[in-house]
Amino acid sequence: MNYTVCVLPGDGIGPDITAQAVNVLQAVGKRFGHELSFSEHAIGGTAIDSAGHPLPRETTEACRKADAVLLGAVGGPKWDNVDHDLRPEQGLLGIRKALGLFANLRPSLIYPELAQSSCLRPDIVQQGVDLMVLRELTGGIYFGRPKGVRTHDGQRVGINSMVYTEEEIKRIGRKAFEIAGQRRGRLCSVDKANVLDVSRLWREVITELAQEYPQVELSHMYVDNAAMQLVRDPAQFDVIVTGNLFGDILSDEAAIITGSIGLLPSASLGQTRPGLFEPVHGSAPDLAGQDTANPLATILSAAMLCKYGLGLEKEGQAVEDAVQAVLRQGYRTPDLASAGEECVGCSAIGALVLEQLQS
Ligand code: IPM
Ligand code: MG
Repeated sequence: MNYTVCVLPGDGIGPDITAQAVNVLQAVGKRFGHELSFSEHAIGGTAIDSAGHPLPRETTEACRKADAVLLGAVGGPKWDNVDHDLRPEQGLLGIRKALGLFANLRPSLIYPELAQSSCLRPDIVQQGVDLMVLRELTGGIYFGRPKGVRTHDGQRVGINSMVYTEEEIKRIGRKAFEIAGQRRGRLCSVDKANVLDVSRLWREVITELAQEYPQVELSHMYVDNAAMQLVRDPAQFDVIVTGNLFGDILSDEAAIITGSIGLLPSASLGQTRPGLFEPVHGSAPDLAGQDTANPLATILSAAMLCKYGLGLEKEGQAVEDAVQAVLRQGYRTPDLASAGEECVGCSAIGALVLEQLQS
């Protein structure tokens, strides 16, 4: 088969890490007999510099035509003072919206090899963490209207609106039940229904949907409690489904308890291709171009690209196995290393993954 992948390296370490993931995808193509072609396009601060906009039209068009999109990261202090609507982050929000990527899958997994890097107590880590945060990505307070900063009665007032329609909740809800059905069959819906009207509707709609998925066990949790339970007893979770803002916050928390945010990939999916695949971590501008960044989260995002973006299950599995093998052999990038442990850089660990894939 032939596939086209649109690569958006973005800012900071983005170019370093996407380069390694592209090498890995090329090796996957070779090993499994697929023709993969890549084209690179600008997004974020780099696009502001080169084209005057964080999401040039040409980039959106190229993404629409591709089978999948691989993104590095956006943002950096260099663009801290640009106009709010032209910030690098707007490029990311814009491409999610333009491609209709309403479902953001963020798996959090403790690798046994790295269990000691978790910030949680060993007895909690030993219970295991293997959960998926499913975050709604194109609605909620990120996009709701009215929004803006206005002057009212002589003082400035800032407004954002948390809005969800029934259809938007159903769409992400269905996805959540499906994913839970393919995992351990437990779904926890997170909201703030004790305070927010929008959450009350969220809870009602998710509860109605549950009747269609009798094999999945549904529970509900308020977001403040969920934040606490994630550090108290993360093993209780299988799939968490939640809105855009709560998902943004909880997915960072779920990531850091694994001790390896440099290893966590994500997938953003719509009703149709292309999906977008990116690491959970940011652009780490201070590490840019030094060949020390950890490319494994991007390589694991490439694995999700195979599985969820192109339907290539065994290809994705091969990438995940290769990463795990490299970790098992004891190789560590600086972010994963404990004090005194020897480190390898970005391209070196990328080459080790390639070696595994080719062996
Ligand atoms: C994320 C990030 C983005 C978000 C920012 C960079 C716009 O924090 O992907 O979690 O808030 O969605
Ligand atoms: Mg975030």
